Amino acid sequence: MPANITAVAHFVPPDVFPNSYFESRLDTSDEWIRTRTGIKERRFLLEGATSDLIVPAAKECLEQRGLTPEDIDCVIVCTVTPDNMFPSTAATVQRKLGLTKAWGFDLSAACSGFLYGLMTGAALVESKQVRRVLVCGADKMSSILNPDDRSTFILFGDGAGVVLIEHSEDNNIGIKDSILKMDGKGGDFLYMKSGGSANPPSHETVDNKEHYAVQDGQTVFKSAVVGMADVSAEIMEKNNLTADDITWLVPHQANLRIIDATARRMGLSPDKVMINIDRYGNTTAGTIPICLSELWQQGKLKYGDGVILASFGAGYTWGSIYLRWGMK
Ligand code: UT7
Repeated sequence: MPANITAVAHFVPPDVFPNSYFESRLDTSDEWIRTRTGIKERRFLLEGATSDLIVPAAKECLEQRGLTPEDIDCVIVCTVTPDNMFPSTAATVQRKLGLTKAWGFDLSAACSGFLYGLMTGAALVESKQVRRVLVCGADKMSSILNPDDRSTFILFGDGAGVVLIEHSEDNNIGIKDSILKMDGKGGDFLYMKSGGSANPPSHETVDNKEHYAVQDGQTVFKSAVVGMADVSAEIMEKNNLTADDITWLVPHQANLRIIDATARRMGLSPDKVMINIDRYGNTTAGTIPICLSELWQQGKLKYGDGVILASFGAGYTWGSIYLRWGMK
């Protein structure tokens, strides 16, 4: 019996920051941001933490399935911006939602966090360790962005997407296959230098602004274009899929040019590619479940549709998941 997504929801904070907001603060322009990235605006959470992004979306998942908090067996929070170093944000979400029967943990795989979490959740359900898992992809990126760094501040946003995974009786739908990859050599190009055990926070690390995300954009870009396109082509080949078998490519939303290259490599027309980077920027682990939730809300996902999820991010981590949509 396959593991299947049976509910999906998202939450983005209400405060919108258009590109013009950055024009007045940094040496940048709306034109540069739009043409180099595809971003027009993003949302920042002004008060609260990553768990506050997750809770409304998780509640909506429970409502969609008519479940109570006690029905959830496990919660996985994929994030690089946990509420605290410890306890886990999963434990905080468990407390805030009253998931009294659930265990859970945080999972750190940056922009690929949701794909890693989805596979982990699916494996737990398929092996009958648990019946119902909430997989949350969420980041409050604004908490680790240097407002003086134009090469990162303009790229990211805050948001969360949550899915519920359960068994399906129908073997034709659900999570079919995954290819997940990692190359730790990429750690030099997208990272946060201090705040962990390697460089614990001190006055010096804060003065040097080492608690902010740093990215060598061009180097990451080159690896991302190849990595995301290759892994997506690989999962198609492995499952004997042609473009006709795929209704939607749901890619990580880091840069429109990376997304276009991936779609081209898969032979997909642009109308089969979910894009919302223009409205939310890069919400790291949030991008893919937010996309899925919006597609579902807009009535664009039908039972049995072939969907490929793809990501590339810090680590490096990257991967692709093939599923047949299983919500009616
Ligand atoms: O989600 C996690 C994984 N991350 C990614 O996949 C992101 C991958 N990288 C990218 O998406 C792109 O590399 C960026 C959008 C970050 C940058 O675009 P780019 O086309 O690679 O630009 P670049 O870094 O090569 O910089 C080109 C120029 C530079 O100026 P010079 O040296 O040519 O004079 C930058 O200093 O653009 C300058 N620049 C900016 N100009 C205006 C960099 N950031 C900005 C900015 N506004 N915000």
